[in-house]
Amino acid sequence: MVTSASRILATPPAAPVEGIRLDVEDVSHAFQLEGQPLPVLNQVSFSAAPGEFVALLGPSGCGKSTLLRLVAGLEHATAGAVRADDAPIRAPDPSRILVFQDPTLYPWRTVEANVALGLEARGLIKNQRHRVAEALDLVGLTGFESAYPRQLSGGMAQRVALARALVNEPRLLLLDEPLGKLDSLTRITMQGELLKLWQQARFTALLVTHDVEEALFLAERVIVFSDRPARIVADVAVDVAYPRHRGDPRLAELRHRILHLLGLDETW
Ligand SMILES: Nc1ncnc2c1ncn2[C@@H]1O[C@H](COP(=O)(O)OP(=O)(O)OP(=O)(O)O)[C@@H](O)[C@H]1O
Ligand SMILES: [Mg+2]
Repeated sequence: MVTSASRILATPPAAPVEGIRLDVEDVSHAFQLEGQPLPVLNQVSFSAAPGEFVALLGPSGCGKSTLLRLVAGLEHATAGAVRADDAPIRAPDPSRILVFQDPTLYPWRTVEANVALGLEARGLIKNQRHRVAEALDLVGLTGFESAYPRQLSGGMAQRVALARALVNEPRLLLLDEPLGKLDSLTRITMQGELLKLWQQARFTALLVTHDVEEALFLAERVIVFSDRPARIVADVAVDVAYPRHRGDPRLAELRHRILHLLGLDETW
């Protein structure tokens, strides 16, 4: 595993945030669907060290988003425990932020006003307005403060969503296919940007993605899940130092192994 000390920092952070230590312990979860239990997670256990970047891969509908919602505190597990720095997660908290595939910006608010939302909601905007500008700078959107969402490209809108998360200085960033709707070129650019943000801000990151290459380019570990109800099939260490090169033969090897774990045979 690559330790945080060996990461290449583009700019040293002014006040680095210490990432959360996350423990998911023997978590099972079921929904009720038409009076019947629908098992979604099956005895899932893993931990993420403070500042670690972990990717979650698994078949569609297996329970990945549900797992992120449990970690965010939006849902309570049927069984097992989810802990942040040893404290049980019972409710949402601004230290743990969820970013979705769809940026869900308010169309009537400017970029700046969208990013300011979290600080406004917490009554911090008066003293901490400068954090809005800092977050916009981090995602490369300085100069677009007064633009409205309809005036942005898909990639820019997703950057605003990231800035809106970062303004809260999250200690755990939960990313649910955040780049899933972007074209492949924008996606590759944004992967690099996401990596830079993580290296600067030092939050713990949990990324759900369908893209094996994206998981391997970004994460220090990749957890592979089975079909629903999701159980962990493998926990794969990505033992490649940053900055990574997409053509690295070790990444190709890991990709091959993970696709196999996901059930693809040798003919792909
Ligand atoms: N609130 C809910 N009530 C009932 N069933 C639900 C609820 N939320 C999710 N499910 C079901 O739980 C299962 C897992 O859903 P989830 O969204 O976690 O999957 P996922 O792994 O994120 O899938 P995808 O990769 O397609 O996003 C699905 O069968 C879904 O229908
Ligand atoms: Mg999902």
